[in-house]
Amino acid sequence: MTATSHSPEITIEFHQSPVPDADRIRALETPGFGKVFTDHMVLAKWTADKGWHDAKVTARRPLELDPASAVLHYAQEIFEGMKAYKADDGRILLFRPEENARRFAQSAERMAMPAVPEELFLKAVEELVRIDKNWIPSGDASLYLRPFMFANEAFLGVRPAQEYIFCIIASPVGAYFKGGAKAVSLWVETAYTRAAAGGTGAAKCGGNYAASLVAQAEAYKRECDQVVFLDAAEHRWVEELGGMNVFFVMNDGSVVTPPLGGTILPGITRASVIVLAEEKGLRVEQRPYSFAEWQADAASGKLVEAFACGTAAVLAGIGLVKHSAGEFLVGDGQTGKLTTELREKLVGLQKGVTNDEHGWTRTVSA
Ligand code: PLP
Ligand code: COI
Repeated sequence: MTATSHSPEITIEFHQSPVPDADRIRALETPGFGKVFTDHMVLAKWTADKGWHDAKVTARRPLELDPASAVLHYAQEIFEGMKAYKADDGRILLFRPEENARRFAQSAERMAMPAVPEELFLKAVEELVRIDKNWIPSGDASLYLRPFMFANEAFLGVRPAQEYIFCIIASPVGAYFKGGAKAVSLWVETAYTRAAAGGTGAAKCGGNYAASLVAQAEAYKRECDQVVFLDAAEHRWVEELGGMNVFFVMNDGSVVTPPLGGTILPGITRASVIVLAEEKGLRVEQRPYSFAEWQADAASGKLVEAFACGTAAVLAGIGLVKHSAGEFLVGDGQTGKLTTELREKLVGLQKGVTNDEHGWTRTVSA
């Protein structure tokens, strides 16, 4: 689908009755994940005749949709996840936002949606962060940004819609997992799969998550934090978690992570961790890793650590692994040394504590 190459101006409409200071400050004390929202949001429209238009930052409010809106029927929807951080010196930082803009455009292409120009995406994110800057928590917490786009044409025929809405909401967040730095437990799903070759696994579309929920519910039933999916063709190769990529740390200085082959999400945290691990002198192998190999390596002691990584979760050590035929521990079941080191390095960069040699952070001017 054609995309407008020019990026419209963004109008600012300030909220007339924002959340009172005392209530906001209280909400920021224990934000949890994805429950508290800021005063504003970004909205922009796309129509086949006008391209992107009416871009604005406006008061956050419910959206009114026609019951025939295409997204409600055929799930033509994509989203992103990124964070704004408050540095100790007061700067507001984004981490590799250009990568989110790029992946959003790639997801749009896969879902036959118009691309949001990178310039509009970045400007919209920055405007929202600037206007809602009082909502950025300090310390370990951050402001989670959720750009998304959906088909909003009132039409029941099955074809790419002719109207779309691009929206960004923001939510102050603490740790994704309730246990904090404690290692997470995984349920290995062998019946349901997340994505098959030629499908939408590499796109960040809502449908992938809808399809994962029954397996995530099974994980909760088994008292596990997250589900880990195997490949759809052979139910043999480890792919990724419901909302994170996965890494395995061996006792010979190598680190293994499943390769990007169209069925897993190309995580920005994953890409960053690969760079940071290689800079530490580790050999990172992006190669297929089977569940059988995982079990054998955990049993032999070759596998010393494993971790999940993503924007929401940052880096989380993997401890207990449950599957249909039993369970095992990775290492001693605690978050490992390398996981902790990589997490600290990454968070240091994101929060502007560590010198940004990679040019990964972008300062939002206040
Ligand atoms: N895999 C899935 C399925 C995800 O939802 C996410 C989170 O966005 C990731 C991996 C990690 O991606 P990123 O590091 O870009 O947040
Ligand atoms: C993210 O990390 O941004 C995600 O989309 C994953 C989800 C667990 C919130």
